[in-house]
Amino acid sequence: MLVIGIPRESFPGERRVALIPASVPSLVKIGCVVVVERGAGEQAGFPDAAYEEKGAQIVEDRATVFAKAQVIVQVLGIGANPPRGQEDLALFRPGQVVVGFLRPLGNPEAMEQLSRTGVSAFAIEMMPRITRAQSMDALTSMATIAGYKAVIVAANALPKLFPLMMTAAGTLRPAKVFVLGAGVAGLQAVATARKLGGVVSAYDIRPAAKEQVLSLGARFVELPLETEDVEDKAGYAKPQDERFYERQRELLSRVVGDSDVVITTANVPGRKAPVLLTAEMVAGMAPGSVVVDLAAERGGNCAVTRAGEEVLFRGVRVFGPVNLAGTVPYHASQMYSNNVVAFLLHVFPKGELQFDRGDEITAETLVIHEGRIVHPAVKQALSS
Ligand code: NAI
Repeated sequence: MLVIGIPRESFPGERRVALIPASVPSLVKIGCVVVVERGAGEQAGFPDAAYEEKGAQIVEDRATVFAKAQVIVQVLGIGANPPRGQEDLALFRPGQVVVGFLRPLGNPEAMEQLSRTGVSAFAIEMMPRITRAQSMDALTSMATIAGYKAVIVAANALPKLFPLMMTAAGTLRPAKVFVLGAGVAGLQAVATARKLGGVVSAYDIRPAAKEQVLSLGARFVELPLETEDVEDKAGYAKPQDERFYERQRELLSRVVGDSDVVITTANVPGRKAPVLLTAEMVAGMAPGSVVVDLAAERGGNCAVTRAGEEVLFRGVRVFGPVNLAGTVPYHASQMYSNNVVAFLLHVFPKGELQFDRGDEITAETLVIHEGRIVHPAVKQALSS
């Protein structure tokens, strides 16, 4: 019988929970026992009683969850939780399994520390982007929420309304929104800004993104850049050299200067985010304009961005939010919980502490196996 433990999230200000009550029965059905730390779901809107009703056990403290559970499931595990994640090191024991966002490539040193406890660790952000794994793809879920919320942040800060309004008091021109990077978060930002009535345009270096932008009713900004070899086999953007980015910045200057809101999401996996907005470009925007930089955590797409802060630069408000998904804890927890349960049912289909390392999804997410770092990309990150 597999015991699955849900501790309260310890990252400062984090309100999500890794598993919601509605997910408990599907784990119980395969013979699992679910133990939840008292109050773990409270801030996301899931009280202890709701967990008990669905068949989970509530335990008093974190140490008891770790002592009872064979599999610990978190949203932000060590690596993704530098301020507090270390405190869990003393609670893990050999043979235990941990599942969560672990930032294994951004913080490989934390993986080394975790490996010394003898656990096996699955990093949910390493999920392969294959059809079979779509239901387990928490990165996509959280990016969807971040894209939506970025527009809300911008709309709240902008001294203008988004929609066109023809009123007896005159005609109000709609806000111009430019989304840079049309992946998961970017496309959701495009859709949300359109629903609010903004005039939306977007750009991405992957040519395939054009059709998706157009299908949402937005304009695709065409830049005369060489984009034939910009996409890797997995569908991600490849890193470009500095000359490419310099040219891109030049070409983007006008559209940025002409926008009321710029939302940036450009990312190259495993790298620092490319800087696509210089301070001069921000200064070229009208006073009161807004930049929301969703790449803030990875260094930022905008030179002015400070992660976790709002900067006022020559009259332009530049936001560098780091955990937008966490600001919508109810639905973010629901999505994460659905993803993680699909993953647990895949890795432990019989409700036993055994997994098949030959399976693609298991192999690509497994960073540490019984105290040894086994993921090639993480090994490489540690040796470079
Ligand atoms: P991401 O978060 O790594 O990057 C965001 C976007 O930034 C990407 O669209 C990327 O092309 C773009 N970008 C990078 N450099 C740029 C630059 N210099 N200028 C403009 N844009 C730039 O990517 P995300 O959103 O996680 O996913 C992107 C890819 O993954 C897409 O091909 C998408 O279809 C695929 N995907 C597949 C899934 C599946 O099959 N299960 C699930 C989710 C995404």
